[in-house]
Amino acid sequence: MKAFKNKGLIWDNLYNFSLYYEVIGVLKNAIKYKSEYLELTIGMFLEELIGKVVDMQTMYETEKFEEAVKERTLRLQRSIEITIQAIAAMVEVRDPYSVGHQKRVGDLAMAIASQMGLSELRLEGIKMAGSVHDLGKIHVPVEILSKPGKLSQIEFDIIKTHPQVGFDLLKHIEFPWPIAQMVLQHHEMMDGSGYPQGLKGEKIMLEARILAVADVVEAMSSHRPYRPALGIEKALGKINKNKGRLYDHEVVDACLKIFEQGYRLPED
Ligand SMILES: [Fe+2]
Repeated sequence: MKAFKNKGLIWDNLYNFSLYYEVIGVLKNAIKYKSEYLELTIGMFLEELIGKVVDMQTMYETEKFEEAVKERTLRLQRSIEITIQAIAAMVEVRDPYSVGHQKRVGDLAMAIASQMGLSELRLEGIKMAGSVHDLGKIHVPVEILSKPGKLSQIEFDIIKTHPQVGFDLLKHIEFPWPIAQMVLQHHEMMDGSGYPQGLKGEKIMLEARILAVADVVEAMSSHRPYRPALGIEKALGKINKNKGRLYDHEVVDACLKIFEQGYRLPED
């Protein structure tokens, strides 16, 4: 009986297919002749009719289901974006020198990933990870974050805890992407000289290799408490010089290409 739930819609469609007239015609003939042949015909016809009604109902329910899934996905995506923005804001409240840094890294990383042909879904994930990659800096004292001079070894060691702290804060949030791992690995270098795990080459996930390039390019292009902005040319020169040693050569090539094609870091 479930198939007849939406009678109005179903009968409208039947009308469109002229099945309604066929039903009336067959029933009229059946009443007139009451023949066995017609009873058989009616039986077959009704079977076919019920089949069509069930097909239409399935189509209708599938459409409804798809709409509901789309709606829920959009709502979930909006919640994730709001969560990410709130997390990003937490870092920037404590570290005003890096306001906009994470957003720009996310934007650049996504542009590089797009140039490399990554899927739409992975692009979204990498943008999100870029937007929160320095979350762990909330564990670093403000005096260190905004220190105008050179950092001591101890201070640098404290700064170096931020990928692990970021990972620990994010690891239980169920994002559709491995955001926590991307954050954990964003300071790893191709030759194993990075931190915190000293991962080498392809042991570092591709998203993190992209973030590493986007991070250094953005950081060198912007003003920092300990130095003025060095400019995009110097930043691109640095990644080119260290291509294959510190930074993934394909990622570097994609980054150089997009700047060549006119890409510019977004303003604050
Ligand atoms: Fe970082």
